[in-house]
Parts: sequence; structure tokens; C-alpha cells
Amino acid sequence: MRHPTNPLKKDFPIFRNHPGLAYLDNTASTQKPDAVIEGVKRFVEFDYANIHRGAYGLSERSEILYERSKEKVRDLIGAATSAEIVYTYNSTYAANILSLSLARSGRLKKGDRVLVSIAEHHANVVPWLVLKEWFGVEVDYFGMTSDCEIDFADFESKMTPDTKVVAVTGASNVTGAVFDVVSLGKRISGMCDRNGEKPLFVVDASQSVPNYRVDVKEMHADFLFFTAHKMMADTGMGVLYGRKDLLKVLEPALSGGGAINWVKKEAFAPAGLPYRFEPGTPNIIGAVSLLHACEYLESIGGYARIEEAERPLISSALERFASLGDSVRLVGPIDPNKKIGIFSFTLKGAHVSDLAERFADANVCVRAGYHCAEPLAAELGLDGTVRMSLYFYNDENDLDAFFRVLEAVISETSE
Ligand SMILES: Cc1ncc(COP(=O)(O)O)c(C=O)c1O
Repeated sequence: MRHPTNPLKKDFPIFRNHPGLAYLDNTASTQKPDAVIEGVKRFVEFDYANIHRGAYGLSERSEILYERSKEKVRDLIGAATSAEIVYTYNSTYAANILSLSLARSGRLKKGDRVLVSIAEHHANVVPWLVLKEWFGVEVDYFGMTSDCEIDFADFESKMTPDTKVVAVTGASNVTGAVFDVVSLGKRISGMCDRNGEKPLFVVDASQSVPNYRVDVKEMHADFLFFTAHKMMADTGMGVLYGRKDLLKVLEPALSGGGAINWVKKEAFAPAGLPYRFEPGTPNIIGAVSLLHACEYLESIGGYARIEEAERPLISSALERFASLGDSVRLVGPIDPNKKIGIFSFTLKGAHVSDLAERFADANVCVRAGYHCAEPLAAELGLDGTVRMSLYFYNDENDLDAFFRVLEAVISETSE
């Protein structure tokens, strides 16, 4: 029996062009609504030019839209001013720019520690490990509870006086667990390192901003980053938020045209905020796509509408997983209120890549592997998982298509 189609699906042309497609790989990237596609098309057809210092109308219009995009993002995450919004190319670039700039500014030196959770995406692990390799910065991990939530006791025990940075994801891209980074930020704001300074709190909001409201002040976040393609905008577009007073004193790790005030043969002066962190021509089209993604989100009712569409699907998927028996191991919280729509699992007797192929054959898009979180897989004793992930345009028909395949494979493997 077919369920009613989610009315929001009609806003996304990919579903018109591929009837019957069950797109359940939203953690990797989300589909784009007409509002974004048409908005970008209009921009390229009518307003596109390079920004900064173009005296002509097209350049001015381009720049107005670029700045409007930042204003929208500022509002989206509760930043104080758009000077705190640095545009990068994705979350991974944002984390690298940040880590290298902290090292270049002497905020992270040999022997200083960076504490991350064991559930981090490689984007929030490898840039810190690079500092370990290059500068002798120590990297340590705190663990999770059995529900895959933050283990606050372990966190506290790892907060040594040498810990200068705590970098944690808002939600795991493998387990779907929503981390209580508001409590974490509050705790950190009451702590001091060896020099009497508050450790910096960095939030990887790559899976948060697409799904629920994030407020940098409420989290006491000093830095936060996310990537636009996971919230309906273009690829090659990312956001690094930094507290203005911190960005002001941070030496940018990268520089060049656009990021400077003046250049002489022997020297240069960096530009003001946030441009000193945006060397070279930015992804102007990506910025406009993010503007339209934010406007589209507002037009459908904001995060309340996302919650309204996703919550019943998350509960339904959890119930259906629970009914499958012991051969399926679902990792992550089983309380629907403690997770976003990410479901990673293994099936006894089936290899995860073979499983993913079976889904692909049935027009169901899921992903198999470590999901760029190998330390987490090692911690959970997993040799990869299949990951099914929802967004607000999915519906029960997509879940039906997914569970039809999974139930068929279970019955084959148990024969
Ligand atoms: C939690 C998390 N952090 C960071 C990233 C990296 O995003 P990007 O590849 O766009 O840099 C991802 C992507 O899957 C993610 O899920």
C-alpha cells in the first residue's frame, strides 16, 4: 500500500526526474530544491560578476547578494555580526583554515592538547593530527556512553591544564546521536587552562545546521563550521564562524588577493574581517545558492517544519529496525528524541558493500563504509556499516522501499 507522498518532494526536481527513487543518502549530501536551482540560474543569467572593488553595476549586485548570503547565515546560527562569518569551500576546509591559523598564531604549540570526541568525522580529526605531525600538538579523545552520547565523566577526566582546544561534532554522521554541545560549551566556559585562559570550543555543525536550530551563543562556541551541500545548497561552499574578538587576533594561515589591505615588495597588511580569511575569489555562486537554501527553509516554515516532517519518520524507522531481529545491529541511540535521521547498521552474514549494491539495484540510495569516521568504527568494533539517512523531503514510501530490500536480504541470509 502506498502512503501519501510528502508534499515537500515536489519542490525537488530530482524526484520529478526520477520517479520511484528512494534517496536515503542525505547525510552525504542533500538534493536541491527549485528555489535554489532557479535562484542560482537567475543570478548567473542576470547578476554574476566578481565581487570586491568592481565599480560597475553587475559587480555591485553580485557583492550585495554575497553579503546578503552572509547576513542570512549570521541570522541562521545566531552570530553577532557577519564579520564573524568566513566563507570557505566546505567543513573540511573550514577546519583546516582554523587549525592552521591557531598554530600560526601561537594558540596551539608543542605540548598543547586538542581534545576531540571519538565520534568525530575525519574533517575534525585529521587537521588536528596534522598539527601533531608538524608542531607536536597532542590530540586526545573522550568517549561516549553506551547510548553513543557524550560521556561527560570521561570528558572531564581528559580536560588537563594543557588542553587548549575542545573540538566536537553537534551530531554524529554515523550514529545520528545529537551531542549535548550546549552543556559541553557551558562546562568549558567555566574552565581554565594552565595559563588561566578558557579552552577554545569548536563545534562541527555539519550535521546540525541542516537539521535543527543552532545558536553559537547558546553553545558558547568560539568557532563553528558547516558545509552548504548538506543543506540543499551547492558543493564547494562552507562556513566558518569565529567569535569576532578571536578572529581579530588570529593570524590567517592562508593569504593572497582579496585577503589583504595593501602589498609592497617586501610586506603586506591583511584585510579586515572576515575577508582576511577568504583569500582569492570566493565561491560566489555557492554563496548565492546558500542564500536561496536559507530562504527556502524559511519559506517552508523553518526548522519547525523539518522537525515535523522528520520526527515521525525517525520513530517509524527505529520501530521497523527493532522488529527485524538480532541479525541486524543498529548503532546509535534508540530514543527517537536523541538522534537525527541517520541509521547505520550491519547485517550478520552480509558484507556492507554487497548490501549497498542490493539497495542500489532497487533504486534505494544508501552508503556503505566507514563514513569518514574510522576512529569511531574502531571504538565500536565495526568493519564498516551501511548508512541510511533521511531528510525532511523523505516519506514512508522511501522507508518501505528501504525495508523491503533489507527484509528480503535478511530472509535470504537466514535460509
Ligand atoms: C559531521 C561531519 N563533519 C564534517 C563533514 C565534512 O563535510 P565536507 O566533506 O563537506 O567538508 C561531514 C561530511 O560528511 C560530516 O558529516
